[in-house]
Amino acid sequence: MTAEKRVLLIVSGGIAAYKTLELIRRLRERGISVRCVLTAGGAQFVTPLSLSALSEDKVYTEIFSLTDESEMGHIRLSREADLLVVAPASADIMARMAGGLANDLATTVLLATDKPVMFAPAMNVRMWEHAATQANIATLESRGLIRIGPDAGNMACGEYGLGRMSEPMTIVEAIETHFAETHFAGPGARPLAGRRALVTSGPTREAIDPVRYLSNHSSGKQGHAIAAALAGLGAETSLITGPVALPDPAGVSVVHVESAADMLAACQAALPADVAVCAAAVSDWRIAAAASEKLKKDGDGPPALELTENPDILRTLSQAENRRPGLVVGFAAETEKVVEHAIEKRQRKGCDWILANDVSPETGTFGGDSNVIHFVHGDGVEDWPRMTKQEVAERLAQRIAAHMGGAE
Ligand code: CTP
Repeated sequence: MTAEKRVLLIVSGGIAAYKTLELIRRLRERGISVRCVLTAGGAQFVTPLSLSALSEDKVYTEIFSLTDESEMGHIRLSREADLLVVAPASADIMARMAGGLANDLATTVLLATDKPVMFAPAMNVRMWEHAATQANIATLESRGLIRIGPDAGNMACGEYGLGRMSEPMTIVEAIETHFAETHFAGPGARPLAGRRALVTSGPTREAIDPVRYLSNHSSGKQGHAIAAALAGLGAETSLITGPVALPDPAGVSVVHVESAADMLAACQAALPADVAVCAAAVSDWRIAAAASEKLKKDGDGPPALELTENPDILRTLSQAENRRPGLVVGFAAETEKVVEHAIEKRQRKGCDWILANDVSPETGTFGGDSNVIHFVHGDGVEDWPRMTKQEVAERLAQRIAAHMGGAE
C-alpha cells in the first residue's frame, strides 16, 4: 500500500533514539525509503553509522557542511520526501520547532518544508507535563503537525508516567495510515473510502459516587488498533473510547466517554455507519443509584451497592432496525468453551461476526500485545494463528473491506 513512499526521519536527542533503529527496519520492510537527519543531541544516543546501515543512505548532520549543501541542500532533503517524521522528538526540538528556529540542519529543514510533519515526543514525565512543553505541542498541533504518543510507562530515568516514545510499530501504523489517507497511496489502496466505521474501545467506568467507580482492566489496545486499521483503509472512522492510557490514533475522530450509557449515546450519535466493531469491555452493571455526594463512613458498616444492568451496546446496534450498520462485529471474551459460547453469543446479540478470544489469565490476552482469535461468522468458524493485536486489526479491516466489495 505504501510502496516507494519516502520518509525523512529526523532523530533528535533522547534515550528513545534506540527505538528509531527498529522504526527504520520496520519502514524498510514495508518498502518505505528512509533518509535520516541526525541532530547533535541525537548523535549522543545513536551513531550515524547505524542509521546509515539500516536506511542504506547517507545520514545528514551538519547544516554548514559544504559537501552536503552542494550535493543535497536542505530544500532538496525536504523536496525528496513525502513525509517528515521527528522521532524521537525531544522537548528541545519541539520548542525550537514551535518557535520557528533554524539553528541546525533538522530545524532548518523543518522550517523550510512544505511536506506533512509527524512527531513522536519522548522525554521525562515532568518535562512532558511542563506548561512550556504543552504550549509548544498545542502550537505544533494547531499548525497541522501530527503527533504520535507519547505513551505512559516506566522511564529510563526511573519515573513512571507519560513521556515514553510510542512503540516503533505504532509509529509505522500512523505513517501507513497517513499514506493511505493521502493521494500518495494511489487507487485501490483505500477500499473503505467513502465508508463510515464506528469502533468502541477500552473499559467503561460506572460511578459509585463523585470519586469512586467500577471498571475493568481493558487496555483498549485492540479497539484502538482496529480503528487505526479501518482508517488506514480509507474509512471515515469514529472511535468511542472509555478511559485508556493510549494516544488517540491518527486520522480517527475520537470521542472520550466514561460510562456505558455515555458510550451508547456517543455510538448512536455517530450513526449512520456502514460497519460497527464493538471491542470495548463495557461494564455489564452500574450502580443503581450513584450517590451525588461522596459516600462517608457513618459507623453503620460499608454501604450496600445495588447494581443494575447496563445497556448492551453491541446488541442495541445489532437490533437498531433501520439504523443498523450493514455489518456489526463483536468480541467474545471467554475463559472456557470459547467457540461454543461465541456461537451462542453471536445469535443472542444479533451481530454478524464475533471475534472470540480466550482471556484465561495464562493466555496473557488482557492488557497483553497478542491475541488468539476464533473468527465466528454465519458460515462457520476460522481459527486464526496467534497474532499481535495490530495484526488482528489489520486482518479484520481487510476482511471488512473484502465483505464490502473491496479487495481482500
Ligand atoms: N458489549 C457491549 N455492551 C455491553 C456488554 C458487552 O457492547 N454492555 C459487547 C462487547 O463490546 C463485546 C461483546 O459485547 O463485543 C461481548 O462482550 P462479553 O463481555 O464477552 O459478553 P457479555 O455480553 O458480557 O456476555 P457474557 O456475560 O455471557 O460473557
